[in-house]
Amino acid sequence: MDRTIAIDVNRLCKTYDSHKAVDDLSFQVYAGEIFGLLGPNGAGKSTTLRTLITLLHPTSGTASILGHDTVRDADTVRTLIGYVPQERAIDRFLTGREHLQLLGALYHLSKDEATKRINELLKLVDLENHADRPAKTYSGGMKRKLDIACGLLPNPKILFLDEPTLGLDVQSRLRIWEYVRMLKARGMTVVMTTNYLDEADQLCDRLAIIDGGKIKTLGSPVELKIALGGDIVSLTLKEADRIPSLEIELKGRPAIKSVRTTTKGLDIRVESPEKALPAILDTANRLGCSIEFIQYNRPRLDDVFIAHTGRAITESIPETESAS
Ligand SMILES: Nc1ncnc2c1ncn2[C@@H]1O[C@H](COP(=O)(O)OP(=O)(O)OP(=O)(O)O)[C@@H](O)[C@H]1O
Ligand SMILES: [Mg+2]
Repeated sequence: MDRTIAIDVNRLCKTYDSHKAVDDLSFQVYAGEIFGLLGPNGAGKSTTLRTLITLLHPTSGTASILGHDTVRDADTVRTLIGYVPQERAIDRFLTGREHLQLLGALYHLSKDEATKRINELLKLVDLENHADRPAKTYSGGMKRKLDIACGLLPNPKILFLDEPTLGLDVQSRLRIWEYVRMLKARGMTVVMTTNYLDEADQLCDRLAIIDGGKIKTLGSPVELKIALGGDIVSLTLKEADRIPSLEIELKGRPAIKSVRTTTKGLDIRVESPEKALPAILDTANRLGCSIEFIQYNRPRLDDVFIAHTGRAITESIPETESAS
């Protein structure tokens, strides 16, 4: 893999009033990779992205895009990047093609060049047959495709996508993943945010899990799962009221790395299932817990997220943390 550094982020902070939305982030994005920022709502993903694309000034720290500082060389940076915001900026009355033409004029493309690129992009995102309909008549997936075409119009070296598939149906999400992979195959560097674990897992070459404005861990999905070590044994108990006592008994036993309650049982992280399973079954038996279902699997990205943030991505931040 090409290890040329496309984006270099160094101790980046962004504070709103006294709230640290981005808190001392350092990471690098390699040329030609799909890099993800994965985190729950309010983690600081959009703020980070908006700083990288020069829309926000960092409170402290620096970021450079292909060697150009996002503050000092903002004009140069803007010629190198495309951006697809989280909130779509589509004017419902213009047609898809008119949106792209308007942008072409903003980017000072010649008429011929604009026409050529717009036709290519409409084809790329499968909107050729809908290009001359008002965008207000588009489905959610079609609007997102138009957003992506808009981001690609300046022919950027690096494309920034903020939550590219938020709220889309499965089919549309898969199509967008296909486009992103195609852009990578053409040599583009892609930085995207997501709060979907499956999206980060399947699409990103490397990702940073961010929470409360900080990077909790960074690596390829496979590296992050391997780093967690061991397997996950998931138990479903017949009586949910037995879960807490079993949790207490299992915690701290030698073969067991961590225990976490789920809605119907426990997820137990173990060094090796062969060693841990007899101990788990023994303990359950001793406490009179009837096990309805048991399975084990390699760690998933969900498990990585939980191990580094202390909660599932869908769980809200505990009161004490959000208040601090
Ligand atoms: N313009 C602003 N003024 C004040 N606070 C802001 C502003 N923009 C964001 N914040 C705060 O900064 C934090 C990070 O917000 P950000 O939008 O970067 O999160 P996010 O990870 O993109 O979340 P989401 O998944 O909801 O898009 C949040 O606590 C948010 O309330
Ligand atoms: Mg956001």
